[in-house]
Amino acid sequence: MNKPAPRTFHVKSFGCQMNVYDGARMTELLESEGLSAAAGADEADLVVLNTCHIREKAAEKVYSDIGRLRREDGTTPMIAVAGCVAQAEGAEIPRRAPSVDIVVGPQAYHRLPDLVRAARTGKAVDTDMPAESKFEALPARRRQGPTAFLTVQEGCDKFCTYCVVPYTRGAEVSRPWAAVVDEAKALIDAGAREITLLGQNVNAWEGEDEAGRTQGLGGLIRALDKLPGLERIRYTTSHPNDMRDDLIIAHKEVASLMPFLHLPVQAGSDRILKAMNRSHSVDSYLRVIDRVREARPDIAVSGDFIVGFPGETEEDFAATLALIARVEHAQAFSFKYSPRPGTPAAVMDDQIAAAVMDERLQRLQGLLNEQQHAFNRATLGKTLKVLIERNGKRPGQRIGKSPWLQSVIVEDGPDIGTLVEVEIVSSGPNSLVGALTRVSAAA
Ligand code: 5AD
Ligand code: SF4
Repeated sequence: MNKPAPRTFHVKSFGCQMNVYDGARMTELLESEGLSAAAGADEADLVVLNTCHIREKAAEKVYSDIGRLRREDGTTPMIAVAGCVAQAEGAEIPRRAPSVDIVVGPQAYHRLPDLVRAARTGKAVDTDMPAESKFEALPARRRQGPTAFLTVQEGCDKFCTYCVVPYTRGAEVSRPWAAVVDEAKALIDAGAREITLLGQNVNAWEGEDEAGRTQGLGGLIRALDKLPGLERIRYTTSHPNDMRDDLIIAHKEVASLMPFLHLPVQAGSDRILKAMNRSHSVDSYLRVIDRVREARPDIAVSGDFIVGFPGETEEDFAATLALIARVEHAQAFSFKYSPRPGTPAAVMDDQIAAAVMDERLQRLQGLLNEQQHAFNRATLGKTLKVLIERNGKRPGQRIGKSPWLQSVIVEDGPDIGTLVEVEIVSSGPNSLVGALTRVSAAA
């Protein structure tokens, strides 16, 4: 018996910001096909789980999430598994979880409408990485809050030995200059005032401008800076080896480029960096940080760290703590090493015991939390520009972001989407509280 065509849908994204972007584009695509967004997964005819494969915990979560979609009357909605787990596990997913109807990888989701049709009569699996770009097949950008993501580069050729990304997202590809500029304009027309350029190695972006000149991310940012209505530009995630001069200088010269750099280093021991195939050293990373700080002294530095990579000794770990102490982070993400199927590190000798990883992660996070708190405290009494993004919990309360990506709570109700001046009156480990200055209150 054919399943009925779904009329409503719900997309749930997990993992990184690129998944959030892909989720937004799937939403726009399904809406352009006449489906409407349901209030939640429980009300939807079609549920898309947009998954993450980066660590085991994230990947395994998919199966419990699928189980939770079963309703009280025993029925399930049409279920699509998208994202990186879909790419990595493919047809294995409906074998393990028979209620799954559709499996669609990160480079094939423009075909979602066809897959939904096919799923009415059987399982539909598409983990192709087609030569044609999904971006060209997707409908134009529409609904938009004050902040938006824009994928400019996707995939990775670096093959860090712990990482699934080169397998799930494919080879490194830069989107063309004009495609990025056009999408940025559409986002601004739809209400975006801040755009975060996304890529697994976003600073490796390369393209030709209208005049046929080769440009890097710095050149692209300078072009976006000229678009009327765009107040703020950010980018993430970068690789230390791709931090070129044009981008570093842009941090000095382009006022709309926010003083924030997410530059994962992963570990502070050259021996471990080599085993990770990071192709940079502690020293070359530190030189990049020094150059960026020279160009933009107030830049906030963020990073990613992995503890317990195979073979990591106490001495290696101490070197990571020393690197953190030297760099001083405004924020950072840190993870226990998770062996991933198909990656070289998963079969390395000397896998580290869970208890050792737990203990190291705690020490590392203790240090990073102190640094983040200190960074936040340093803004006390200062006047900052805050882009208001959303409502807070209490009536009149709004939440926005400082230039350094700190969350700022503002009590006196400025409109969402406005850029206001606030004086920071208190600071905590994870957020700041600000009061509108007179200039902003009068505006
Ligand atoms: N185990 C733990 N953390 C990982 N990351 C990537 N792969 C793994 C893994 N196998 C972390 C890295 C990367 C971030 C996105 O996730 O720190 O920068
Ligand atoms: Fe993974 Fe390395 Fe690529 Fe980052 S650069 S996505 S860590 S392989």
